[in-house]
Amino acid sequence: METQNLIEKIIEHARWAPSGDNMQTWRFEIINDHHFVVHGFDTRDHCVYDLNGHASQLALGALLESIAIAASEFLHRSEFKLRSDTPESKPTIDVFLTHTPEVKQDPLFACLALRSVQRRMMLAKPLDSTQKQALQESIGRFYSVIWMESFANRCQTAWLMARNAKLRLTLPEAFPTHSTVIEWNSRFSDDKIPDQAVGLDPIATRLMKWAMKSWARVDILNRYFFGTLLPRIELDLLPGFFCAAHFALVAEHEATSVEDYLQAGRAMQRFWLAAAKLGLQLQPEMTPLIFSTYVRKNLKFTEVPKLLVLANQLEKSLANLLGTENAKKTVFMGRIGQGQVAKSRSLRLSVKELTLNQNP
Ligand SMILES: Cc1cc2nc3c(=O)[nH]c(=O)nc-3n(C[C@H](O)[C@H](O)[C@H](O)COP(=O)(O)O)c2cc1C
Repeated sequence: METQNLIEKIIEHARWAPSGDNMQTWRFEIINDHHFVVHGFDTRDHCVYDLNGHASQLALGALLESIAIAASEFLHRSEFKLRSDTPESKPTIDVFLTHTPEVKQDPLFACLALRSVQRRMMLAKPLDSTQKQALQESIGRFYSVIWMESFANRCQTAWLMARNAKLRLTLPEAFPTHSTVIEWNSRFSDDKIPDQAVGLDPIATRLMKWAMKSWARVDILNRYFFGTLLPRIELDLLPGFFCAAHFALVAEHEATSVEDYLQAGRAMQRFWLAAAKLGLQLQPEMTPLIFSTYVRKNLKFTEVPKLLVLANQLEKSLANLLGTENAKKTVFMGRIGQGQVAKSRSLRLSVKELTLNQNP
């Protein structure tokens, strides 16, 4: 009983790992006192952003890192084994815990539940070299950071994000996601993104709520009323400029396998937790990377020809910003800086809701 409580305690802390749109693409199965299984899944069949399940795999990696950190707090080592007999869309990982009194407790533990996304403007005050060094060290030697922090670089990146938002907001294939992931009139949400965490002002939020009832409404706003203008200014241009820096985490090799994405997710989570430990705010900026991957791999993601043209242009802009090779090897992108802690945030499903078998 005692050690089963240990697994539940570990899950209690690890479940705060981030996931795309707060989808929490995992469930837990407790096998015995020292062994539990993480049943991962992805959303590629209905979410255009989950290309080949990569975003879900990154999130799953963040969950594994969180499990390792939480286990260390309770003086246990964790070992992960990805099963080879499950489909890629359902990564299944056995977690084995070993009591190890001499294990080093991870100082990032305290940040697991504190870390959160901040989508609003931050201070344009640069990071100092100690902060940058701590962030670089958090991800280990197989990943490096490209910083886009000068005035010109931040403007260039903010403009890229705003053009990318035009693609996102006029893409019919993204509507099923956009119309279902937001919890309206909310400051907190257990399994979605509360509307107040999106980063829009209250009037634009009400307009978005009205528009998200049907694609026809979004289309009318976009065609005749410059519907993308306000969100692009509020969600991309202004916050893209008002931050310390944009960053790209670059892997040694281009990620191709599920294991690569799990490792990248672990690095992403350490970077994000290290930022939280430094009192910094962070917002992922993943969609330009995702659309660029569609373009590079020649995968069609929309029936709208002019959006395919725009995606091609954006792929070139991103390669120009990061360098062609680095763009291919980038696993995570975002912006970072000093700022207020988000007042509105996603919460999580409970341990009970996330666990398949409560009483094995
Ligand atoms: C792989 C991945 C990709 C994400 N991409 C974006 C993104 O492009 N834009 C954004 O605002 N948030 C993005 N997020 C943040 C999630 O929406 C957020 O982590 C989730 O809603 C939970 O909220 P929390 O991090 O505040 O706990 C991403 C998170 C992950 C793990």
